[in-house]
Amino acid sequence: MAGDGYRVGVLGATGAVGSTILGILAEREFPASEVVPFASERSAGRDIEWGDEALEVRVLSEGAIEGLDLVLSSAGGAVSAEWAPKLVEAGAVVIDNTSFWRMHDDVPLVVAGINPEAADDHKGIVANPNCTTMVAMMALAPIHRAAGLERIVVSSYQAVSGTGQKAIDELRRQSQLVLEGDERPPASVYPHRIAFNVLPQVEVFADGDDYTTEERKVMAETRKILALGEEVGISATCARVPVFTGHSESVNVQTGEDLSPEDCRALLAEAPGVVVVDDPGAGRYPLAIDAAGRDEVLVGRIRRDPGHERCLNLWVAGDNLRKGAATNAVQIAELLIERDLLG
Ligand SMILES: NC(=O)c1ccc[n+]([C@@H]2O[C@H](COP(=O)([O-])OP(=O)(O)OC[C@H]3O[C@@H](n4cnc5c(N)ncnc54)[C@H](OP(=O)(O)O)[C@@H]3O)[C@@H](O)[C@H]2O)c1
Repeated sequence: MAGDGYRVGVLGATGAVGSTILGILAEREFPASEVVPFASERSAGRDIEWGDEALEVRVLSEGAIEGLDLVLSSAGGAVSAEWAPKLVEAGAVVIDNTSFWRMHDDVPLVVAGINPEAADDHKGIVANPNCTTMVAMMALAPIHRAAGLERIVVSSYQAVSGTGQKAIDELRRQSQLVLEGDERPPASVYPHRIAFNVLPQVEVFADGDDYTTEERKVMAETRKILALGEEVGISATCARVPVFTGHSESVNVQTGEDLSPEDCRALLAEAPGVVVVDDPGAGRYPLAIDAAGRDEVLVGRIRRDPGHERCLNLWVAGDNLRKGAATNAVQIAELLIERDLLG
């Protein structure tokens, strides 16, 4: 720790997640002596406003990464694969938002408020889970602790900001064109038009797999964070919807012990980072637009599955850029300080 705070690098600072991280560092008054934004050559030299300061965007180089205590990284998997080890070698702890390090045995996958103790064993890199996993985790972990999970079925309705800034721009542009009568606006980010559509594909079907890479991440990361054995069935279907920010998820859980909807509601009302919004008759349930811009995950529509006495259905909504990425990354940094694991 230098002077009166930590030297913090934000890698991917011009992107959807990185710019949210910059905002959250300021909001939460993170103890930073200096914040250094990094992005690609495309943005080098550009100024980013941060409070009353103008921060100049830098490109990664061996020299530029010297002396950083902490790096919050969201510049894509390939950049993290190459640069996270170099950053650790240069003395920084890296909190990585990409998928590259999440399933490595030596890298803890941490949800603040759920499994902070996993960070105790870090060896320089701490991974931040996928945004869809994170949103589900906030509701699933308290249920798991109280009644044990036997099977989980997640169906997601994911916002375009989960893909990054280019997807936000594409939804806006396509929506305008469709409203002007163009039924086939150009699509470059997704394989089909996203405006006024629902795509049952998030990321790609790799190597002939009939699940997408996003669905595989949700299943594998859930198992790692909650330390669930193979006997617990996990199934995910991820869809992209024309929403700017806020992932919604329908979650069906089978518990080991009976958990009534009333007890589940009471349990989640006490859970940190969760707000229960559950008065469906009055039109009150979690909405993506209500979840957007806040750090808590909203849970509602808590009800018994008529098909199984130990199954519940829930609806969960969370801001993919905040708790789904940036807030959790900054919370991990805070818990590293609390647990004396930084520096
Ligand atoms: N969006 C979400 O909700 C979310 C949630 C959890 C995790 N993530 C993960 O976070 C990462 C970033 O996502 P995003 O949505 O913020 O994407 P984005 O909006 O496309 O931003 C990408 C950022 O990475 C920078 N970048 C790209 N190539 C680079 C390079 N070679 N060297 C240095 N910087 C480079 C970009 O800089 P330029 O502006 O200069 O191109 C930009 O700052 C991805 O790995 C994603 O999977 C995203």
